[in-house]
Amino acid sequence: MTELLRMGIVGIGIGREHIAALQTLPDLFRVQAICDLDEARARAVAAQYSVPHVTTSFDELCRRDDVDVVHICTPSHLHYEQTLQALEAGKHVIVEKPVAGSLRQVDELIRAEKQSGRRVMPIFQYRFGHGAQKLKLLIDRGIAGRAYLTTVETAWRRKPEYYAVPWRGKWHTELGGPIVTLAIHAHDLVFYLLGSVKNVFARTTTLVNPIETEDCVSASLEMRDGSLCSLAVTTGSAREISRHRFCFSNLTAESHTEPYANTTDPWTFVGDTPELQATIDAALAQFSPLPEKFSGQFYRFYHALKDGTELPVTLDDARAALELITALYDSAQTQQVVSLPLANDHPKYLGWQP
Ligand SMILES: NC(=O)c1ccc[n+]([C@@H]2O[C@H](COP(=O)([O-])OP(=O)(O)OC[C@H]3O[C@@H](n4cnc5c(N)ncnc54)[C@H](O)[C@@H]3O)[C@@H](O)[C@H]2O)c1
Repeated sequence: MTELLRMGIVGIGIGREHIAALQTLPDLFRVQAICDLDEARARAVAAQYSVPHVTTSFDELCRRDDVDVVHICTPSHLHYEQTLQALEAGKHVIVEKPVAGSLRQVDELIRAEKQSGRRVMPIFQYRFGHGAQKLKLLIDRGIAGRAYLTTVETAWRRKPEYYAVPWRGKWHTELGGPIVTLAIHAHDLVFYLLGSVKNVFARTTTLVNPIETEDCVSASLEMRDGSLCSLAVTTGSAREISRHRFCFSNLTAESHTEPYANTTDPWTFVGDTPELQATIDAALAQFSPLPEKFSGQFYRFYHALKDGTELPVTLDDARAALELITALYDSAQTQQVVSLPLANDHPKYLGWQP
């Protein structure tokens, strides 16, 4: 591994934000090549960010020996195959969510990563917002106490123009609705902070846009720690918000509601007594911020690779997110409470899509 990691990006939609974030860390990364089927789009982005190489061929990107890490930012149904191909070519992989379309596929990726000697990091960049990181600090130090109740709202707006992009809104290519592509971040934060889920009950419906997948979801979770969690998701909210609210025995933590940035500062942390508030304030005074969002995840990736430590987001984390998705769809379809973990002979192990 060279000191500077050399990055190749495929898919220049959200891939453009990956490039911008990598370039905030010029001592760690150099963006070496970009790949997109739309050559004009790729050339324009390459010119804007001074990226030396452009290709329309993913095979060619994988063959480049001046690329250490491939970022997969293509439409969701391509992530699984492209991750396998990049690993086979000897690259580390950073892959957008969802990493795959089934638990079987993510298990296959876990196996392929182990065999390859390379690393695969799924994207969950919202974990690294300073507000969420402060709550993580309070939990890790035992200050938060016992979790009671968590509420998570992802109330965004998606109009017909959004679904005019052909791969969106379809089971085969988007792989699912907003619980797969939009709220997956907000729900990942719950596992990141509270651990695993014991069982779920969900209702889904399609009311906002004429699409194949759901666009409104209400779900009730029992967490393994005994606490309860309520998830609400819609693409029909004229005022867009994201909100996390965690009630613990010692404090209540609440995010702000900026829809695509609610894990950043400011969060409020209200202690149950003045003494607890003083403890919280003293702990947070020691909070030392690292970069946030994509930059925050890439910064931690670099150091994990360099030091040989665990990645900031692992395929096991992505698997937990996909297992929740599988259970939510199963519950919505059967109208039963679904217990986790799901066994490999579960009817939806091969995919939650109808
Ligand atoms: N982490 C986040 O916050 C976040 C935000 C948006 C999207 N995403 C994820 O990123 C992925 C892409 O979403 P998007 O909104 O950027 O989509 P998009 O349609 O805007 O961009 C996808 C790009 O991939 C290119 N492409 C398609 N097939 C290709 C191939 N075989 N080889 C090379 N290029 C190819 C397209 O030409 C297009 O430029 C999705 O899986 C989505 O879930 C993540």
